[in-house]
Parts: sequence; structure tokens; C-alpha cells
Amino acid sequence: MSDLQRQLADIEAKAAKAADAADGLEALRQVEARFLGKKGSLTQIVRSVGKLPPDERAQVGRLANEAKRRLSEMFAAKRRARTEKAADAEREQAAAYDPTLPGPVRPRGGVHPITAVQWELEDVFERMGFIVEAGPEMESEYYNFEALNIPSWHPARDVQDTFWLTNGLVLRSHTSAMQVRAMRKYGPPLRVVVPGRCFRNETVDASHETTFHQFEGFLVDKHISLSSLKAFLQLMLREVFRRDVKIRLRPGHFQYVEPGLECDVNCLICGGEGCPTCKQSGWVEMVPAGMIHPNVLIAGGIDPHEYTGFAFGAGLTRLAMMKYGIADIRLMNSGDLRGLIPPERLSGPALNRTMPSRGVGAS
Ligand code: PHE
Repeated sequence: MSDLQRQLADIEAKAAKAADAADGLEALRQVEARFLGKKGSLTQIVRSVGKLPPDERAQVGRLANEAKRRLSEMFAAKRRARTEKAADAEREQAAAYDPTLPGPVRPRGGVHPITAVQWELEDVFERMGFIVEAGPEMESEYYNFEALNIPSWHPARDVQDTFWLTNGLVLRSHTSAMQVRAMRKYGPPLRVVVPGRCFRNETVDASHETTFHQFEGFLVDKHISLSSLKAFLQLMLREVFRRDVKIRLRPGHFQYVEPGLECDVNCLICGGEGCPTCKQSGWVEMVPAGMIHPNVLIAGGIDPHEYTGFAFGAGLTRLAMMKYGIADIRLMNSGDLRGLIPPERLSGPALNRTMPSRGVGAS
């Protein structure tokens, strides 16, 4: 084999190797230029044929041209293969895309701890036949006080430092304002819960805010006693905290209940050791309650000789703080989204609630 033949075979081998290594059509085109382009190594050999003595010219020219043709065919074949491969990949990708499959699941937004506890409570009470009511946040003095056996001269008004509005109404200082409204609306027997926002002119600290949420409940029927109330409180708190919590009952005074009591819960933040949330006492005042005062039943159009009932006003904000271990009430209104409860941490039917609370907006 002549030097030339060896040189051409070498070029062809290198071209084949480089073409195989080329990734994509553009890379292949560049490799081709390196061998068959204007300054390509084979092109240079073909050009040099003219400078050879005439007797060598014919043979060398033939060999070089044959090599050029083989290379051109090789590149053309490789180009075809690459193009087909790309088309195949595209077809495969198109086939793999199934528009009937469900899209990627987006995480659902979380809910505020107060909302989470409210939903859970609403579910608990709805299962027991309670109606969920909302009522106005701007309330009349009558329903907020008078109807609840708190006449204008009574010192019991002083414990609720109330926002009085220039239109003569008040920002309701408690959800108890709905008691007489509901009695008049539904008549006895009745079971109603009222989750809602309340307002008082409080000095803000770790456990007091001017805006807070309560969860009122009241039940009027025949033969309702203090023991019915105690059973309810126990059940309700077990449902909220999903475990047995230690509670204690002690006498309390509210004009609209007789007897009245305070239900305290063993502080779940410190476990009863004492911390700022429980004011170092180990107990958190959670659910004031009592047997509905006869005067309130009368205001609601109910005969107290025929019916009795109980009422309680859980601090919804405080329940949420206990349940989720939030030590400072000011975090509740801070707008810090890290405090929201992701849907997967909601329990029971609350998990499926996507609508705003049923009570909201109704009256
Ligand atoms: N309304 C009372 C308060 O806000 C709580 C309460 C409700 C007490 C129902 C007794 C019965 O402090």
C-alpha cells in the first residue's frame, strides 16, 4: 500500500471516529467541515493532485476522489441517522404526554390556628345537633348587656371594657350577645354554637388582645342540669385537644348564669409548671360557663319553669394557643404565615372544609 493510500485510510478512520463522537447535527456538520470543508484535510489532498507530475496524477486523483466520495456518503448517512433519531425522540415524548392524566398536585394553603380549632369545634357540635350561628359584630347594647341581665347601672359592665360606637351600638364584647337573639329566633328546645370575633379595650400582653375569638355554646331543654354541662365541657375539650386534659371547675360570676363557674385547663404550654401564658399559675382560664339565668330565658321568650339550660363561652383564641403551643397572643394577629396549619395537620372532617366557616355572614 502506498503512502498516499495509508494517509487516506488514516483520514477516513479519523473522520468516522469523530463523526461517531459528534453529539447532535450541528457538531456533525463541524466534523464534516474539518475533513471535507474548504480547508479540510481531504480537500487539501485532492487540491494537491494538480501539482503532481502527470503520470502520478491520474492514480492519485482517483484514489483521493474515491476517498472523498466515501467520506461524503458516510457523513450523509450519519446525518440521516441523527435526524431520524431526533424525530423518534420527539415522537416518543409526544406519546409519553397524556393530557388525560391529572396535573401536578399543588399544595393547598394552610388555615389560621383559630380557624382550624373553630372548624373542629363546629364539627363536634354539629354532630351533636347544634346549629352554628354567627351574629353581628356590631351589636346593640340590649343584646350585649340588658338581655343578659346586665342593666346599665350594674358593675358587671365594668369587667368588659367595651368599645362604644358613635352610632349607639357596641362592638360585641362577647358572643353571649347571641344567646337571646337565638332563643327568639328558634325557640326552645335549642342547641346553638356561636363562633365569633369579640372586642374589648384590653391592654395588650401575651394573653390579651383587643380583638379575640370566642366560641359560645348554649343548650335549652327540659331537665338540663349542671352535670349535663360538666359532661359537655369534658367532651368538648377532649375533642379539641385530642387527649384527656386535666380540668378544674371553680365558682365564677356572670350575670347571665346561675350558678356560674370557670373551667380551667391544665396549662399545655408549660405542663402546669408555670409560664407567662398561665401567669405562672399552671392553669389557664378557658371556659367560663353556667346554668342560664331565668331572666335571660325570659328575655328570650322561654318559660324558665318549663325549660332550663346551660351556656359556656370558650376562648377560641386561647384554645388555639394551647392546642398549637403558641405562647403569645400577639402572634395570632401578626400576619406571620409560618403559623398557618397545613391541611394535612387538620383532623377529622375539618380536613375537607374548603368553604369559609358556615357561621360567617349568616345571622
Ligand atoms: N361571656 C362571658 C365572657 O365573655 C363568658 C361566658 C359565656 C360565661 C357563657 C358564662 C356563660 O367572659
